[in-house]
Amino acid sequence: MRLDVISIFPAYIEPLRLSLTGKAIDAGVVDLRVHDLRDFAHDRHRTVDDAPYGGGPGMVMSPVPWGDALDNVAASDPDQRPLLIIPTPSGVPFTQTLAQELSEQPWLVFACGRYEGIDSRVAAHFAANSAWAGVREVSVGDYVLAGGEAAVLVMGEAIVRLIPGVLGNAESVADDSFASGSMATLLEGPVFTRPPQWRELEIPEVLLSGDHARIAAWRRSQALERTRQHRPDLAGP
Ligand code: 6GU
Repeated sequence: MRLDVISIFPAYIEPLRLSLTGKAIDAGVVDLRVHDLRDFAHDRHRTVDDAPYGGGPGMVMSPVPWGDALDNVAASDPDQRPLLIIPTPSGVPFTQTLAQELSEQPWLVFACGRYEGIDSRVAAHFAANSAWAGVREVSVGDYVLAGGEAAVLVMGEAIVRLIPGVLGNAESVADDSFASGSMATLLEGPVFTRPPQWRELEIPEVLLSGDHARIAAWRRSQALERTRQHRPDLAGP
């Protein structure tokens, strides 16, 4: 998968080169290319923002450098159509289902906004531009970040770990919380390892029983209880 990220803080994206996602890059499974939006500004001060039409607080990112930066990325491989992802708190929710769908794409381009966001004509233009596979405006949760970069770290990690071969068998995604991507999913319950006694706490005896059917039933009930406690919206009646 090719993954391009455009930002005024390219260093913010570098953590994707660590750990699991870093291994996917080193293995050639992911081709990460980070671009500085200011390289596409046109003035001496490398300005990328301007005052909002209609008034109001803050600044809006100009469509001019964004259009040039995105054209430049798309032109780097005329044989493929990238999917443009714009992180924004006003986007559709980023879910495990969307992560799975995006992990099946050959080329994702993330456009990181700052300030009050990117001029809305950018999303409209690239949605109608046949060099592109489409545009998704996506939110990582019901809170406001200062920019899209932290959201790209979140989405990038969730997407890359789903690419076949990135996770080993031992860390298979099958029983992740949200693995089904649906409301029927339970959160994962508690997990334990050695030592069998730690401070005042022991291991639940069922896990030492060797009775695999009883262990599976206990894990399901723990998962259900955790889901009821933490996510009553997922737990049903
Ligand atoms: Cl994707 N971006 C920003 N700036 N804030 C957010 C978000 C994204 N998702 C939730 N809050």
